[in-house]
Amino acid sequence: MRAALSAARRVSLAICIGGFASYSAICGTPEEDDAAIAQNLAAMLRDARTVISDQQDLINNPQLGDKHLTGDVVLAQAIAKYEKDTGSDPKKVDPASRQGRLLRAMMAAIVEVVDDNQPTINEEGTGFKGFIPAVFARLVAESFVHLAKGEAEIKVTAPLELVRNRKARPDPWETEIIEKRLLDPAWPAGQPFSATVETKGRPAFRFMVPEYYAESCLACHGSPKGRMDVTGYPKEGGKLNDLGAVISITLYH
Ligand code: HEC
Repeated sequence: MRAALSAARRVSLAICIGGFASYSAICGTPEEDDAAIAQNLAAMLRDARTVISDQQDLINNPQLGDKHLTGDVVLAQAIAKYEKDTGSDPKKVDPASRQGRLLRAMMAAIVEVVDDNQPTINEEGTGFKGFIPAVFARLVAESFVHLAKGEAEIKVTAPLELVRNRKARPDPWETEIIEKRLLDPAWPAGQPFSATVETKGRPAFRFMVPEYYAESCLACHGSPKGRMDVTGYPKEGGKLNDLGAVISITLYH
């Protein structure tokens, strides 16, 4: 009996270990579960966006036609990064669980966006194609919202005055959290904000992950403010380590 109990305990411990950063995976209170799911969805989106960032030279090579950078190739590279970050294999999460369903929706969205954009990626004779990490992330977020069928939403947003694409604008709640919390100099860098709030008439767990400008962002979002960047948008005058992005996740209850 004791042996059986401790075996069961070992199993449940094994399930609880291996989440993202300080969040252990699927165990604990519902809020912790939601936080783990949100954190893992953000991690998958970020890892896929890093793949698109790493592949910019290939994507923008005007000499090459077919780049063999298909949805499956990008997803495999994103999963490898995700496994390294989180220590867990997203394909093994129970597909019947909320986390399993939503992670699969995210992976399907990544594949869909890369596959839909093959004509752009493979266009010969054009250098810069505008298929940049931010555009990719917005398209994946849109596709995820569609595939998650009202169960969850994700958006990559930013402080209102920095937002380029109207579709990425923060809603009033997001704006308040960005201004009062994430932009507060006392807010610990990188720490997510979470709360359970009524959203679109439904109770929802909301999770906001702050991200900061790195040197590589400033070619487009840096100085001089107002000067056009390579994509045709005026630069925002951002500085290194400024809050430049927020991954916002909503899990409806
Ligand atoms: C090549 C220029 C370029 C670089 C480099 C770049 N961005 Fe952007 N960024 C853009 C463009 C263009 C958009 C608008 C994309 C769209 O149409 O959705 C954008 C959009 C965004 C958005 C979505 C909100 C909005 O404004 O529409 C965030 C957040 C963002 N960028 C943050 C970053 C961060 C953080 C980095 C560095 C890791 C970065 N960007 C690097 C050009 C760039």
